[in-house]
Amino acid sequence: MATTPLTAQNPWPPERVQEQTRRFYEIYTRDAAAIRARHAAQTTAEAAALRHKYLQPVFGEIPTWSLFEMMARVIDPADDRLYCTSQEIHMLQVIEAMAADGMAGEEFVLAALVHDLGKVCMLKGEPAENVTYMNSLLATGAPGAGLDQCTLQWSCDDLAWSRLKNHLPPAIAWLVRYHGITPADCEPYMNAQDRDYTERYLTPFRVYDLQSKSPFARPRCRI
Ligand SMILES: [Fe+2]
Ligand SMILES: [Fe+2]
Repeated sequence: MATTPLTAQNPWPPERVQEQTRRFYEIYTRDAAAIRARHAAQTTAEAAALRHKYLQPVFGEIPTWSLFEMMARVIDPADDRLYCTSQEIHMLQVIEAMAADGMAGEEFVLAALVHDLGKVCMLKGEPAENVTYMNSLLATGAPGAGLDQCTLQWSCDDLAWSRLKNHLPPAIAWLVRYHGITPADCEPYMNAQDRDYTERYLTPFRVYDLQSKSPFARPRCRI
């Protein structure tokens, strides 16, 4: 059977390439904002259903190192600072930014590696709106009673914490669980330990987690 040879199209004019870039940017940022809005609207019932769902294993027993490698295939479509940059690159960008400031101690590097591991559930089809941050308070305990008396919206933070809490130093487990809170909203309900961890871990970690994001920063380090 005769085959039709493939022929190259005429080169696209620069205006077509620019228009395509502009259109992709608009679509990405619009969709990212919509995902974040859907997450912000997550209800108490939806959060409870997700917590219940993830009592079950996602991948079964799996080495943590395999999860690091899987992060290379995870893109957070709600993140309009990373764009299509993988979560593996995000982890490495955080570590390099910490290292540049002399902040890459063992605990912070560990936090950088594990804090977003829950996002691997997107590889199993979990919608991004259930996985992304930030997580608002749905119910509170008494003032000063502690964040663990509060109910937050469910996200990858909760998933990673639920799997890793018995394998991490307590402060890093706390940081994984609460790295997507809004501290000003949660402060009245924090106990002394929450406030201490916020000051010593969450506040500095968040600088590197959020400010290091770029689709242009190619890390020199590797996992
Ligand atoms: Fe995160
Ligand atoms: Fe992160």
